[in-house]
Amino acid sequence: MKYTSDQVFAALRGVIHPEKNKDIVTLGMVSALEIEGNKIGFTLRINKEHATNIANLKKACVAAVESALGAEAEIRGNIKTATDEEQKEAPLSKVKNIIAIASGKGGVGKSTVASNLAVALANAGASVGLVDADIFGPSIPKMFHLEGERPEVKRVGNADVIIPVEKYGVKMLSIGFFVNPDDALVWRGPMATNALTQLMMQGDWGALDYLLIDLPPGTSDIHLTLVQSVAVTGAVIVSTPQDVALADAIKGINMFRGQKINVPVLGLVENMAWFTPAELPENKYYIFGKGGCKALAEKLELPLLAQIPIVQSIREGGDSGIPVATTRDSITGMAFAELAQAVQNAVNNRVKNRIPTQKVEIDPNSSGCSTK
Ligand SMILES: Nc1ncnc2c1ncn2[C@@H]1O[C@H](COP(=O)(O)OP(=O)(O)OP(=O)(O)O)[C@@H](O)[C@H]1O
Ligand SMILES: [Mg+2]
Repeated sequence: MKYTSDQVFAALRGVIHPEKNKDIVTLGMVSALEIEGNKIGFTLRINKEHATNIANLKKACVAAVESALGAEAEIRGNIKTATDEEQKEAPLSKVKNIIAIASGKGGVGKSTVASNLAVALANAGASVGLVDADIFGPSIPKMFHLEGERPEVKRVGNADVIIPVEKYGVKMLSIGFFVNPDDALVWRGPMATNALTQLMMQGDWGALDYLLIDLPPGTSDIHLTLVQSVAVTGAVIVSTPQDVALADAIKGINMFRGQKINVPVLGLVENMAWFTPAELPENKYYIFGKGGCKALAEKLELPLLAQIPIVQSIREGGDSGIPVATTRDSITGMAFAELAQAVQNAVNNRVKNRIPTQKVEIDPNSSGCSTK
């Protein structure tokens, strides 16, 4: 791709709305940016009373993009407009809390924790959404036995809106609903990050108490896109107790807590904390070591939100698409109900004690990013 979205946004920050005296990016007027070769297009959201400014604003956008990127940038004629009325509210405006489920290491149980936490929160009466942000390896469709599901896409005004699939009281979207599960996704980074923003921003989530984001492992472009696109209330870090997983969990925690990202970590979940055989429910075998996450939580002054044992039914629930949290009176169902309660408490504390998270803005003049 010749131009990056950051370059276009940086150029458009030079366009000041004459009546509001702020730039159009800060005002949230730029959406649905598409870059294809030299061609750049986006939708400019206009408030109806200010509709007389459309022509001038469009001209200013063209001039700003051409002067920043050169005359070969094809922007003329590619700016669509939509009135606020057509677009209704800003996306996610009725979502109270956005919670990222992350880990450093792969395979530690993020998707298992995210799907069971979503079901447990819904069981507790909350309205819950779940975004599968693992664009290259989506697992949510399988974990809810929704493979082959194709969400409906509706046209609202000038925008396409995706209707999330709903099961066990959880609204969800995954790239897995749009691609054949057996096909490997060989997208370039920007396509993957675009897919994530579309799932989040174009999803018709309505009013939600919690929107959970099941992240891929590690610290990737996807993570950065998430914190740039939405204000994440907090992150829940999943780890298993052994040293190699804990070392990676620290990296994940440091990424969120770093000054530039500044997303609070709500706490740790120790998954696979011990093994309990179904026939000996009282026995605990600490096969990955004992107390690893507790010690880390104490050291980093973070709550240990829950300890989830390795239980065959959890794996079976993931494979069969019936999360164990749906069986509320099982030991595992109760463990996830406790996790849901701990997460709700941590969110309440976080909302009381800290100012709201801001979206992370990339500073075009440096290689890093900052919150704005
Ligand atoms: N507590 C548990 N008990 C038994 N099996 C578990 C438990 N937690 C996770 N698993 C199983 O381990 C496997 C990996 O879990 P999962 O897919 O949730 O990990 P992940 O961290 O999301 O992986 P990735 O990094 O690939 O996204 C799955 O088969 C899941 O069913
Ligand atoms: Mg996963």
